[in-house]
Amino acid sequence: MTSSDRGAGSHTGGMQCFWTSPSEAPLERVSRAQGVHVWDTAGRRYIDVTSGPVAVNLGHGNPRVLRAMHEQAARVCFAYPTAFESDSNVRLTERLTAQAGMRLERAFFVSGGSEAVEKALQFARRYAIAIGRTSRYKVISRNPSYHGSTRATMALSADPGYAPFLTEGQTGIHVPAPWSYRTPDGVNAAAHARECAEALRHKILAEGADTVLAFILEPVMGFSGGATYAPPEYYRRVREICDELDVLLIFDETISGAGRTGKFLAAHWWPQSRPDIVTLAKGLGGGYYPLAAFLTSARMVDAVAHAGGFHLGHTHKGHPLACAVGLAVLEETLEQKLIERANETGAYLRSRLNALRNEIHVVGDVRGLGLLNAIEIVADQDTRDLLPRTLDVIGRIQTLARERGLLIYGRRTHGGRFGDWIMVTPPLIATSADIDEIVDGLAPTLRAFAAEVSGAR
Ligand SMILES: Cc1ncc(COP(=O)(O)O)c(C=O)c1O
Repeated sequence: MTSSDRGAGSHTGGMQCFWTSPSEAPLERVSRAQGVHVWDTAGRRYIDVTSGPVAVNLGHGNPRVLRAMHEQAARVCFAYPTAFESDSNVRLTERLTAQAGMRLERAFFVSGGSEAVEKALQFARRYAIAIGRTSRYKVISRNPSYHGSTRATMALSADPGYAPFLTEGQTGIHVPAPWSYRTPDGVNAAAHARECAEALRHKILAEGADTVLAFILEPVMGFSGGATYAPPEYYRRVREICDELDVLLIFDETISGAGRTGKFLAAHWWPQSRPDIVTLAKGLGGGYYPLAAFLTSARMVDAVAHAGGFHLGHTHKGHPLACAVGLAVLEETLEQKLIERANETGAYLRSRLNALRNEIHVVGDVRGLGLLNAIEIVADQDTRDLLPRTLDVIGRIQTLARERGLLIYGRRTHGGRFGDWIMVTPPLIATSADIDEIVDGLAPTLRAFAAEVSGAR
């Protein structure tokens, strides 16, 4: 029996059975994609509002990447890094670390964001052992945050859905993430961010500074905080605290890196932050091939190498084909000046989205940097109250958007406790005409959603 014999409502042949009940219609099948558009097999065209899950930075079907992929595949797809050095790996490391600066001179390549965060933590621990700080193993993260879906990264992410994560009672060690839109009563964003930074210092001391290995944060939040970032003072103070108490600072730039925010790293917006380790994923391979990395200093890598090395393996670490794709994605990004363009396009996008606030009462906040943007959806613009969780805000807006030819990837984190937002993160190649197409589709989508909300009251 083929899948088409099974009829509507059956999707046992693919992955959807893991999250969709059998009574629901299966998703359309994808046929092809080009630039910022994707077509299904019925010929319907969609615009990719979120670059998939903020991955497809170069858009679809980029000829340079396809050529590099083909050439590398024809020469050699796979060579394990302990057997051979590969040209694509070495060249990508050179280009990537040159872009990163900030004394991030070394790169370790894996396949996805969760893996990159895991590897960064393991490397940090190995470094602590190498330099004799053996008592340091705890990692502090922020609540809310999202660092991946392996068990250790879920513990970091503070999302209670699957807790406990490792051993009984283990839920991670968290400090509050600073908000810009919904700050505590009577506290402005700057004062709130200062309090959040001081909460880190108190937490490190409460845990015992000589047990704390690292603090990890998303410098610009992705799905966990809808493109929220803090005032510069926060990043400066966090660095100061980590220096004072000898704690490593890790920036998870799975989403915010690779040019997405209008700088190559989001860390570049706050040069004083000087992260010790940075993770990259998603836009690094641009969705063309699974690729992620952590970057760190030569000093730390040398210390680990002298103390026996960092041997933890993954079959696909430093994969030659993945690195060739990453190199082509990076070269195209730089040559087309897509990072600079993300700033201009992002400003235009936010100006158009902000105009929707005057008209559509559920649009609470529009925020972001470069092309990492979000719209926060609220019950009331004045009170900023959340909508009832039963409304499934993100799911419903996704459905209404899809009916209008807009593909939006979204997911609710922390059960919607901190709010609901729709990411607006188109490919960095998006033109102002593409932005118009997105906003002209989002406007009726959000109007329809607002009408449903008013009708439900
Ligand atoms: C900040 C952040 N870290 C880590 C991850 C996990 O990446 P992956 O899904 O590639 O494992 C994500 C994914 O959305 C993310 O947004």
